[in-house]
Amino acid sequence: MNIQQLNIQAKTAISLFLMFIIIATISSVILLGLELTGEKKGINIPTVSQIQNKYTTPELVASMKGNMYEHVADDSDIDTVDRWIKNGSLKEDELYPEVKEIMALDCADCHSKSSEMSKAIPSMPFETYEEIKSHTQVGYSWSKMSKQAHIHMFGIAMFLITLTLIFSYTTYKNNIKTTLIWTSYGGAFLDIFSWWFSKFFTGLVYMIYIMGGLMVSSILLMSLMILINIWQKE
Ligand code: HEC
Repeated sequence: MNIQQLNIQAKTAISLFLMFIIIATISSVILLGLELTGEKKGINIPTVSQIQNKYTTPELVASMKGNMYEHVADDSDIDTVDRWIKNGSLKEDELYPEVKEIMALDCADCHSKSSEMSKAIPSMPFETYEEIKSHTQVGYSWSKMSKQAHIHMFGIAMFLITLTLIFSYTTYKNNIKTTLIWTSYGGAFLDIFSWWFSKFFTGLVYMIYIMGGLMVSSILLMSLMILINIWQKE
């Protein structure tokens, strides 16, 4: 049996599903590009150093160089925070008063429990030493990693099983089908786990790049190939 034998309603439903998948995939690439480059619009492909920044630098510094950059009053503020964290992010450090001042001036408008700004984030205050310190660790923490891994893996697995099952009933050659199915799951798995491991081996940032790219292209390719195949005459 192959997908060309399905009735017109099933073909329509599958085609609409695939269009959702294509738009969702492109949206995820747009979102990632905006977050990593700090740009406000368009499709932005992040550079390796921007990816490195997200996964291998302390969260506070990464955000100040990335999507919170617009709130940073002066580039030297980033340097001060970076040096304080490299020194061990201690309360007694001579740089700490300056860091506290930067947080108060640049960030506390929104990052405060009592903030009433429309874009505020009261759940992530930077007011006390402990609050600031809790965002100084390098790369993904256990909690961030387990949160990201389960959300992404549940989500990706749900649509990949549908997509790859439909793809396996196309009339393409078996080795093409097998390769793309392995690439999509393999790329997703290695991409997600490189987020975590790249804080230990910075070289893995290239893995994030390559595997993320392979996952996205295999999903788009399978979707397009199914769309072409399903409407071909048997
Ligand atoms: C205009 C309000 C506003 C200001 C000012 C602001 N932030 Fe944020 N920040 C947010 C919001 C909203 C989020 C959560 C959603 C998001 O990521 O956009 C956030 C998220 C974050 C995160 C979580 C990870 C991330 O990057 O999304 C960090 C770290 C952070 N901000 C640091 C800072 C620092 C450091 C400053 C000061 C230089 C700052 N923020 C200034 C509103 C603000």
